[in-house]
Amino acid sequence: GRDLTVLGIETSCDETAAAVVRGPGHPQILSDVIRSQIDEHTDFGGVVPEIAARAHIAVLDRIVAEAMQEADVGFDDIDAVAATAGPGLIGGVIVGLMTAKAIAMAAGKPLVAVNHLEGHALTARLTDGLDFPYLLLLVSGGHSQFLLVTGVGAYERLGTTIDDAVGEAFDKTAKLLGLPYPGGPAVERMARAGDPDRFAMPRPLLDRPGLDMSFAGLKTALRTQAQKLEPVDEQTVADLCAGFQRAVAEVLAARTRTALTLFRDRFPDAPPVIVVAGGVAANAEIRAALTAAATDAGARFVAPPARLCTDNAAMIAWAGIEHLAQGPVDDMAVSPRPRWPL
Ligand code: KG4
Ligand code: ZN
Repeated sequence: GRDLTVLGIETSCDETAAAVVRGPGHPQILSDVIRSQIDEHTDFGGVVPEIAARAHIAVLDRIVAEAMQEADVGFDDIDAVAATAGPGLIGGVIVGLMTAKAIAMAAGKPLVAVNHLEGHALTARLTDGLDFPYLLLLVSGGHSQFLLVTGVGAYERLGTTIDDAVGEAFDKTAKLLGLPYPGGPAVERMARAGDPDRFAMPRPLLDRPGLDMSFAGLKTALRTQAQKLEPVDEQTVADLCAGFQRAVAEVLAARTRTALTLFRDRFPDAPPVIVVAGGVAANAEIRAALTAAATDAGARFVAPPARLCTDNAAMIAWAGIEHLAQGPVDDMAVSPRPRWPL
């Protein structure tokens, strides 16, 4: 089919993002603008939904204008507008989806309502040209799940966290130890100077079959250890971070091995591929553990560049292109959805 140029908008968490992408043949990211709200939320130790929504309103029109300018296109040149319609913080989703509807209506272009998780799920096709089927491990602040991706719109959730998301566990651990938000990078930095074996950390749910995961117990174990040692010195914080990170990496690697076995059973003729996405994918120890798990299983390991692993609008524009490539889409009647399982 014909190549399409799509404007994507992402506002479901604490990034205000707009991008213009062309595809599906030889996909091209013409622009990819992201404005992070970390500064607005850092004093609160986490994302405050009301503040997030207001910050999206304050900058989204400028971010869209920047994305259009950088791509050197006008609204007449685009084929459609794609926006995250959920899941996410509802205030932000409303801002993005309604802005997209207004642009689509004014420009007389179709609107594609994209599931944010689908954006993450299809990114590896934009960055690495992957064919279906493949496995996806999505590990972010809001989600931790294994997905089997067999086609556009064909996603099967194989397992998920039964409590905290991995990124959330990193963020809570950081808060507990007095480290800054976002917790992931802070914990990783401390862990470098730490001894992962000083404190015994649990490997939650690993004694059970299947692909579900649990991370809340880890945080509790860490709190118990920290309380016993009050006041904790710098080395103890480093050791706790290292022990926590090692446990998370081992749990994710073990589950990845199981997921790859399942993939082989389901698709004996397809080359096994595991893709990792989400902010936690930036973690070097976790990446190394997942790479090893994939290599052991004779599978290919794909990690899109960090900028496209974390929240961005290029993945939303791309998901829009993938939908449009299957046929006409008119999502003007879609409502914002705080919860929207794939
Ligand atoms: O994908 P993302 O940017 O946003 C969503 O949650 O959708 O992921 C952010 C999460 C935060 O919880 C953050 O602490 C975590 O990813 N994160 C990390 C690292 N960098 C970001 N976790 C562990 N290690 C890191 N280096
Ligand atoms: Zn995300």
